[in-house]
Amino acid sequence: MVERWTPDSWKSKPVKQLPAYPDPSKVDAVVERLSAYPPLVFAGEARRLKSALAAAVDGQAFLLQGGDCAESFAEFHPNNIRDTFRVLLQMAIVLTFGAAIPVVKVGRMAGQFAKPRSADMETVDGVELPSYRGDIINGFDFTSDARVPDPERMMQAYTQAASTLNLLRAFAQGGYADLHKVHQWTLGFVERSPAGERMHDLAQRLDEALAFMAACGITAETTPQIRETDFFTSHEALLLPFEQALTRVDSTSGDWYDVSAHMLWIGDRTRQLDGAHVEFLRGVKNPIGLKCGPTTDPDELIRLIDLLNPGNEAGRLTLIVRMGADKVAEKFPPLLRKVTREGRKVVWSCDPMHGNTVKSSSGYKTRPFDKVLAEAKAFFAVHQAEGTHAGGVHFELTGQDVTECTGGAQAITDHKLALRYHTACDPRLNASQSLELAFLLAEELKRARVEREVERRAASAAAQ
Ligand code: PEP
Ligand code: CO
Repeated sequence: MVERWTPDSWKSKPVKQLPAYPDPSKVDAVVERLSAYPPLVFAGEARRLKSALAAAVDGQAFLLQGGDCAESFAEFHPNNIRDTFRVLLQMAIVLTFGAAIPVVKVGRMAGQFAKPRSADMETVDGVELPSYRGDIINGFDFTSDARVPDPERMMQAYTQAASTLNLLRAFAQGGYADLHKVHQWTLGFVERSPAGERMHDLAQRLDEALAFMAACGITAETTPQIRETDFFTSHEALLLPFEQALTRVDSTSGDWYDVSAHMLWIGDRTRQLDGAHVEFLRGVKNPIGLKCGPTTDPDELIRLIDLLNPGNEAGRLTLIVRMGADKVAEKFPPLLRKVTREGRKVVWSCDPMHGNTVKSSSGYKTRPFDKVLAEAKAFFAVHQAEGTHAGGVHFELTGQDVTECTGGAQAITDHKLALRYHTACDPRLNASQSLELAFLLAEELKRARVEREVERRAASAAAQ
């Protein structure tokens, strides 16, 4: 029997990764205040994302999800928002050219503040303090004051998310995303990189296509998709009191939605069947994600799917596979086979970041570009072998010229990491690494498309 769900029914379940607030009554007070604040997104937008994702289940669309590992209060700046938005748009164009299907753009933005940690405590030079858990919970500085969880931080996170979203909406709908402007997006440090040059060539081809379409009467005036785009937001639904405060009944459908973002996901550390995070997300109607790491068991995954998507609705559930380049060929096929055999409709997305984190010789947490690419390629190869569809990708990236992941055409080496290592948590691809990856993935998508077409023709020839 399925138990009754309420926005706070998660409280009766075992919960992992929540901070130990010194005064729980202050958390309740913040939740109460936030509960009266306006929603950040509208339920109708979440439904639109869900139907866009439904097309990715059987290869008719492709999900591009990316952004910071952790947004931070200190790095909050319109230029950062613009640059990450821009690199996602550029990647989307590259992927659209390769795949010839719609690319669904979802930012890890406007709310990606809370971080699960593998250890509760952090030790530096013999001093032990609680781990940093994201700016919505405590401070990054390694001092005992900063590391105390403070519920008031939820208010600042809400405000930052609201104004980030406001700018994203303005960029997406207000003319910045106009396809005629693709040339201008590539200015800055990316212009001088090999990926920047390829981007210019692509923009040239796009201009020609737009000119041809205009001659046929298809312009930005007749077709708004040329001058604006859909852009959605997402984050890990980790800090449940915050998510609860932003969970409301949608007046048009009567259903519950978590209106802190369009899409929410469950992390690899909090996906227990009987746990609080699964309990919370099963009750909201947003499209949701579930991270699947190397310890995911195929039978348990089916039980999780049935709890999270009992109606087997396409677009509701995205499985974000993050095995690591060395494990994906072994660990992913059993999951894919089981889910396919059992007829569960999911979007298969590849997160080639979280299974490939290593400590560099210089002491920084990094990710080798080659491993990121290798995992993504292996993910595509598994789908090809099984006759299923790679439905999307999930990256930690930034539009800034950071040096956090090694490798790529810029050949960032271990000892260069210190130059511009700005992340508050995991290492991100910078703008040129992100574009380089998009071009490589576009080739995979194109190959998959051509193969499908060959198979389709062979099947129809055989039928005649
Ligand atoms: C993340 O996406 O930042 C994250 C912590 O991922 P995972 O849950 O897959 O480890
Ligand atoms: Co991360």
